[in-house]
Amino acid sequence: MTPIPPAVALPQPFDAAFLADPYPGYARLREAGAVHRIALPDGSPVWLVTREADVRAWIADPRLSVNKARSGTGYRGFTLPPALDANLLNIDPEDHLRLRRLVSQAFTPRRVEELGGRVRAAADRLADRLAASMAAHGRADVVAEFALPLPLTVIGDLLGVPEADRRPFAARVGAMLAPEHPGQVAESVEHIHGFLLDLVAARRAVPGDDLLSALIAAHDDGDRLSEDELVSLAFLILMAGSENAQHLISGGLLALLRHPGQLAEVSADPGRLLPAAVEELLRWAHPNQMAIRRFPVEPVEIGGVSVPAGDTVLLCLASAHRDPARYPDPDRFDIHRADTSHLALGHGVHYCLGAPLARLEIRTALGTLLRRFPGLRLAVPADELRWRCSFRSRALRELPVMPGAAAPGRPGRRGGRAR
Ligand code: HEM
Repeated sequence: MTPIPPAVALPQPFDAAFLADPYPGYARLREAGAVHRIALPDGSPVWLVTREADVRAWIADPRLSVNKARSGTGYRGFTLPPALDANLLNIDPEDHLRLRRLVSQAFTPRRVEELGGRVRAAADRLADRLAASMAAHGRADVVAEFALPLPLTVIGDLLGVPEADRRPFAARVGAMLAPEHPGQVAESVEHIHGFLLDLVAARRAVPGDDLLSALIAAHDDGDRLSEDELVSLAFLILMAGSENAQHLISGGLLALLRHPGQLAEVSADPGRLLPAAVEELLRWAHPNQMAIRRFPVEPVEIGGVSVPAGDTVLLCLASAHRDPARYPDPDRFDIHRADTSHLALGHGVHYCLGAPLARLEIRTALGTLLRRFPGLRLAVPADELRWRCSFRSRALRELPVMPGAAAPGRPGRRGGRAR
């Protein structure tokens, strides 16, 4: 297939109606073709890859580069300053491997298991606050009081970010990913940039026992990473470490509340069923609609469609996860699925660095909520929930809940182990 000349108006699937409930739209796109030439809301043309087999194959294919410099058309997406852009999700091997090695030790499954006690303690502290809010107001917002602060606390502690700076950083990231007005992206990027430069300067002046201080030492002691790479790594780890886990905790709780039979099963036997429930949530409730944009380094054929070098390719994770060719009855949420594989944490060299931590956080968060708040209910009808809807990310802005018949956070259940 020849690429459509730019003069032809491209379809723009990501309008408000599509984003409000994207899954029927993805189904139509998947049926109509493996790859579509479409325009993003900002007008930039991209190739959207819809089917699971293609997404899985191409997300790990080195012929697709993540380096924006490979964009032939001048990728418009986020315009980040060099000090935020030199991060793992914009770098191809070999530089990618050099940088990833510097941080991978901090996120091995063994190191992450060691964090288990801290994650459980943070979850219990936040559950206390949630219980207090519900006792005082009859309801509480799980996003603001639990799902957002939990991963932010864990990654903030690990990286050495002062507590008072964490929420403002998360708010700026939210505004950058789903702006409420056009100027908000540039404004947020500028703020995040300044904040990270100040943070690195502060840690350099007074090093601590944290990952950022270790990275600064690696920079200052040799030539293993540049100053831009250092700041960019801090940016990516802080952003990736707080953003997605937050949405899977809130979206995961909502999914369980809306499937009471499966909620009852998981609550009765969390040790056995929670890990499988987390994998199904990663597939079904995944906030990231797309993998990071990629650019062919040579002309390629994806799903039978010729894609020129330098064009922008979006591999649609959300569509892949609902592909009936891979998952029987794909729109059904089912914690007993035989096939628990998914692409929610990526695949190939850019596989999520924080995957063990993400799983630990989601498991612990949901385990704690189910144990501390049996009978928890939505405090508003499900169709009144407010979502952040963009073609990049689909996530709850708020999740108002109220206690069920049993008293919230009743004493005596607190010490139990959240898995
Ligand atoms: C549920 C939570 C999470 C989800 C769904 C998630 C998802 C992803 C995905 C899909 C990718 C690959 C992107 C691509 O190839 O296009 C990725 C990469 C990455 N994630 Fe996560 N992530 C999560 C949590 C975390 C956490 C807690 C960290 C903390 C360190 C983290 C750090 C990273 C980094 C640094 C990369 C880039 C890896 C590389 O390029 O080598 N993520 N993540």
